[in-house]
Amino acid sequence: MDGNGRWAKSKGAERIFGHRNAITAVREVSEASAELGVKYLTLYAFSTENWGRPKTEVMGLMKLLVSTIRGEIKTLQKNNIRLRAIGALDNLPGSCQKELSEAIEQTKNNDGLTLVLALSYSGRWEITEAVKSIAEQVKSGELEASEIDDKLFSKHLSTRDFPDPELLIRTSGEMRISNFLLWQIAYTEIYITDKLWPDFRKEDLYEAILAYQNRERRFGRISEQVKT
Ligand code: IPE
Ligand code: MG
Repeated sequence: MDGNGRWAKSKGAERIFGHRNAITAVREVSEASAELGVKYLTLYAFSTENWGRPKTEVMGLMKLLVSTIRGEIKTLQKNNIRLRAIGALDNLPGSCQKELSEAIEQTKNNDGLTLVLALSYSGRWEITEAVKSIAEQVKSGELEASEIDDKLFSKHLSTRDFPDPELLIRTSGEMRISNFLLWQIAYTEIYITDKLWPDFRKEDLYEAILAYQNRERRFGRISEQVKT
């Protein structure tokens, strides 16, 4: 979800104004995904690296997170959306952790869309955590090093309950991954739009999905193989 700062700047406003106006996009995309029958939607809301931003912006974002989760619970329930979160959640302020775990608990029986918030998250952090947990199991004799494979590794990631993404949408025209789901996006289709995140609406999601539907996913094989 990129481009909030630039959106605010284009309107001569403070960065936090852009973050506040990003909530509409979050609501639109979650609702549209639920309506379309998308099963998993992961929103990269706050990265490990974002902690390095000016203190006022970080604090503003955390406050916004608390009020948004609190305010959106009704919409989540209405749309049968189950909330989950990935990241170093212990690093979030206590109020955020509390609001988040309450929302997760309250929506846990919804079985429509699973909305995953990536908070204090980065792909490298997650991979490092997985390596640590695998190393512990090898050390304790629970696991043989020779048993480590792609599948086992995935089971040690915070996304263990979710499938790998089929489509990755990046807003604001940036041509980079910025430490998002590094392991999981090995074969994900990437869609980049110049739209700034606060301007992103249901129609923009439909456009991204239409583009995705015209891709040929070969997973390293050749066209003739995947057609049969
Ligand atoms: C994304 O928008 C929101 C967060 C990282 C929380 P940015 O704040 O990165 O917006 P730009 O890149 O400055 O436009
Ligand atoms: Mg940015």
